[in-house]
Amino acid sequence: MNPDTKKRYDVDLATTEAGTPGGIFMRQFWIAVYDSADLPAGRAKPIRIMGEDYVIFRTQSGVAQVTARRCPHRGAPMHLGWVEGEEIRCVYHGWKFDCSGRCTEQPAEEPGYNEKVRIRTYPTGEHMGLVFAYFGEGDAPHFPPFPEPEGEGVIEVRPSTEAPCNYLQCFENSMDEVHVAFTHAPGGTHAKIAQDLPIITAEETDWGMMRYGRRKTGEVRHTLHYAPNAVRVFVPPMFGMGGVGGWPELILIFTPVDDHNCRWFATSKVHVSGAEAQTYWAKRREMEASAGEFRPVMDVVNDMWSGNLVYEDVRHPQLARVQDIAVQAGQGRIADRENEFLGRSDAGIVAWRRILLRELRAIANGQPQKKWATPSPDVKPVMGA
Ligand code: FES
Ligand SMILES: [Fe+2]
Repeated sequence: MNPDTKKRYDVDLATTEAGTPGGIFMRQFWIAVYDSADLPAGRAKPIRIMGEDYVIFRTQSGVAQVTARRCPHRGAPMHLGWVEGEEIRCVYHGWKFDCSGRCTEQPAEEPGYNEKVRIRTYPTGEHMGLVFAYFGEGDAPHFPPFPEPEGEGVIEVRPSTEAPCNYLQCFENSMDEVHVAFTHAPGGTHAKIAQDLPIITAEETDWGMMRYGRRKTGEVRHTLHYAPNAVRVFVPPMFGMGGVGGWPELILIFTPVDDHNCRWFATSKVHVSGAEAQTYWAKRREMEASAGEFRPVMDVVNDMWSGNLVYEDVRHPQLARVQDIAVQAGQGRIADRENEFLGRSDAGIVAWRRILLRELRAIANGQPQKKWATPSPDVKPVMGA
């Protein structure tokens, strides 16, 4: 770019590093940090969120808790330690902490010194099979951050995947329905919503943004974009499911790992019950058994990027995810928003950027920010197909 050319964006939309407008913005919300099923009782794991390292552990009674990564004594990584009952003990010199951050034991110290020491802990909660944490200042907002979709059905979490790019281009893609007709054409999973190209409109709500896709038939698809990084949408059955289970309501969350990587968390309500639910899980198991023969998502994506694998030849149990990551992370670690040609079909992206820009500028200038509401259970997506 010519250095004299005026920049389109005067604040960094993509960063979520601590202390930046984007980082302050994101830290007002609950952030998805872990798949609940991957955190058994008694285990501690390291996690990286928005460029910072933390530890998550699950107590013996089953409570998930996020803490600072390092022990306040001399900085050993806390996840090396042991979970003891409802507490975690550092492996270096045995200091022990409870879920509120209180130091409850220091085996080699004078009694009472422990009262001077705390480890930072972060409000932590679980909803629909995902662990969320709040990293901001002050009290956390309402939990859960979004309602569980109503109606009969089962909650199914699709294992999280790390994508080698900034979260914002993935969140923006969630607003881009036109990509479906092209990106997801091979494999045929999305054929039903790819017959024609919808006209996209979007409007801000008190919890985020609503996006509409109007088709030639007059049908309108409604998609919810929960601030700051989640989409709730009806999606076609996964590749290999043969349509069993119908269209699940998917909530896909793009958590920044740092500015150059993000993790996709996906939970869903599959609207099946009784005998139908049995058939669904049997079909899922069958599909998963065959999934063992398939390769990790990023291995396949790397072969697509290098040109060794032709895009339309790819078959994979997580085909839509492979296709999405190939194009979205293929835009670069951080998509170049200064050099683009946004069009009519990018209306959802344009609308969200306008909201994000307004909020980040308010933070940068010390002006009041929007007070975000928790979405009501009454606002639901519409399949529109
Ligand atoms: S560093 Fe943790 S107890 Fe010493
Ligand atoms: Fe997609």
